[in-house]
Amino acid sequence: MAIEVKNVSFFYSIGTPFEKKALENISFSLEMGENMGILGPTGSGKSTLIQLLNALLIPTKGEVLIDGLNTRERKNGSKIRELVGVVFQYPENQFFEDTVYEEIAFGAKNLRLSKEEVDRRVREAIAVVGLPEAILDKSPFELSGGEKRKVAIASILVRKPKYLVFDEPFAGMDYPGTEALVKFLKSLRGTVSLIVVTHTLDELLGLVDKIMFLDNGKMKAFGPVKDIIHFEELRKYVPLAELISLLEQKGLNFQLNTFELDHLEEEIVRNVLFS
Ligand SMILES: Nc1ncnc2c1ncn2[C@@H]1O[C@H](COP(=O)(O)OP(=O)(O)OP(=O)(O)O)[C@@H](O)[C@H]1O
Ligand SMILES: [Mg+2]
Repeated sequence: MAIEVKNVSFFYSIGTPFEKKALENISFSLEMGENMGILGPTGSGKSTLIQLLNALLIPTKGEVLIDGLNTRERKNGSKIRELVGVVFQYPENQFFEDTVYEEIAFGAKNLRLSKEEVDRRVREAIAVVGLPEAILDKSPFELSGGEKRKVAIASILVRKPKYLVFDEPFAGMDYPGTEALVKFLKSLRGTVSLIVVTHTLDELLGLVDKIMFLDNGKMKAFGPVKDIIHFEELRKYVPLAELISLLEQKGLNFQLNTFELDHLEEEIVRNVLFS
């Protein structure tokens, strides 16, 4: 089972003077269990692409299939939204319930679950994101930024999606917060397929198997991290990829079995000290 995107183009406001091509002829597939990063500059079509994955948007041309279900067919909509959970940028801005419990439980609505099952899932989700049960009775509005983000993630996890999509999850987070979130996302590996949209490469290293690079609605590259990192056009936008390439050109010999930032630091130190 997989996500299959076939020759997809998407236009906003088609047939009006405001018509805007956001994506052009995108094709890729992602197997269940694989994790993927989507990189690209502002306006490159990243958010548009993920809205096509959970049938919030329907392709202008081409097809999106989620485990074989075509997003174009209306009857598949609710099943697709069950399979694909999307955590939007600043999801905490969309809170509206009085308590954290209700906020998370709301995510499980429309799944036709018993009250007991919802309760079980709410408590499980809160534990997975690493929040104490005592937080369930609080108002979501009185939490810190990081706690709010965790509640927002729990409200998607409660649906038990197979494919979990994050649109810029690190936006507005400090470095320790980002590191903690990366660690959490890594802990989900194997239980879901992650799709993570971000501007920067750093957080994706060691987290995803494949990276897509979008620019101006076009897919400029898609493949395993170790190949993509050397891609010329990516280096223009991603200082870290530029740094790795420059150091390699200088003769530094990286022994990176994973591309995690910590490993990279160790490798640079090792090379500098022992060259
Ligand atoms: N609702 C909309 N109506 C018209 N055009 C839109 C709409 N949403 C996005 N666009 C346009 O489509 C293109 C792709 O936008 P999208 O939001 O997918 O980019 P993005 O890569 O997510 O950018 P960012 O990094 O800033 O979030 C942009 O040129 C944008 O102006
Ligand atoms: Mg976006």
